[in-house]
Amino acid sequence: MKVPFVDLYAQYLSIKEEIDQAIAQTIKNTSFIGGKDAREFEAQFADYVGQKHCIAVGNGTDSLEILLQAYEIGPGDEVIVPVHTWISTAEVVSSAGAIPVFVDTDPDHYTIRVDEIEAKINERTKAIMPVHLFGMPADMDPIMELAKKHKLIVIEDAAQAHGATYKGKKVGNFGHAVSFSFYPGKNLGAYGDAGGILTNDDEIARRCRMIANHGQLSKHDHQMIGRNSRLDGMQGAILKAKLPYLDRWIALRQQHAQSYTELLSGIPGLKLPEVAKDCTHVWHLYVIQHEKRDEIKEKLKGKDISTGIHYPHPLSLVPAYAHLGYKKEDTPKAVDYLPRILSMPIYPEMTEEIINYVVTELKASLG
Ligand SMILES: Cc1ncc(COP(=O)(O)O)c(C=O)c1O
Repeated sequence: MKVPFVDLYAQYLSIKEEIDQAIAQTIKNTSFIGGKDAREFEAQFADYVGQKHCIAVGNGTDSLEILLQAYEIGPGDEVIVPVHTWISTAEVVSSAGAIPVFVDTDPDHYTIRVDEIEAKINERTKAIMPVHLFGMPADMDPIMELAKKHKLIVIEDAAQAHGATYKGKKVGNFGHAVSFSFYPGKNLGAYGDAGGILTNDDEIARRCRMIANHGQLSKHDHQMIGRNSRLDGMQGAILKAKLPYLDRWIALRQQHAQSYTELLSGIPGLKLPEVAKDCTHVWHLYVIQHEKRDEIKEKLKGKDISTGIHYPHPLSLVPAYAHLGYKKEDTPKAVDYLPRILSMPIYPEMTEEIINYVVTELKASLG
């Protein structure tokens, strides 16, 4: 049996009529940039998360970078980020001219180690960007307490965590603003690049919308230096068609994660993902740990089962950040666990048969 890492075509087939109609309608309306569907998606997603404003932009990297610009974070400033995340979280800080300050991450939940944040705060620190990695919320209460104490901005990176909750509230309702990615493989994915900025702050929302559209709110009224990062009309229409299914897809991911956990528990040397207290996990990724990670990955590949490594290196040690001079000892937890992580296939359309096959082959690969 061939098991893909995700099956976006199966998802398309499950809602084919709505998607085909959304695309056809966009072409008919020739609303290729922005337009009615994009605006309606913004309003519906803002409502889904529980924030006042949603500004849909070109991708989830732009959304973070536009937020940094809106908060006037730039040269001379530092921004605290987790060392284990997709590079965008740190890259946008560098693109803004500021310096990312890496903090170690937790081997059980893969989120930033909050106890280590305060030691990194100094007079140059302007913001903290916690990441709800793999769909697991970061520990937001202590982060917000620190932010209040040191007058810092908090931008949640929820690229992988649409709909996840912390203490009963959806992620995106804790920081000053939140960024989402709608990259195709995300839990809510477009059919190309797309991202979203959400906030309750009217002024930040206004600035973000301007920055994303050449510094203008109305045509040729360029109030500031901006860029071109707008949602394609077609992506807006597709996301609008998909949003009503998001909770059902999350529930299916949760069901599959529970099956994996039940079927794989108690195997010596195999560490399964844990859900932190008071959180719901939306399982963008189901990540296990094992000493023989590379061998397991190869054996599963031999059985046509795709797995992934998200992500292989602590960002502090990748060549792009060599100039910052970090050492392995600076983030010992991430350095220790990253060589063991392996992301298993997980997507809503998975069947019990697929899960059983993956579990059987994973067990066999452990010898
Ligand atoms: C944690 C995290 N932050 C930011 C991004 C950037 O999103 P995009 O790929 O839409 O630019 C991603 C997407 O991969 C991500 O996983």
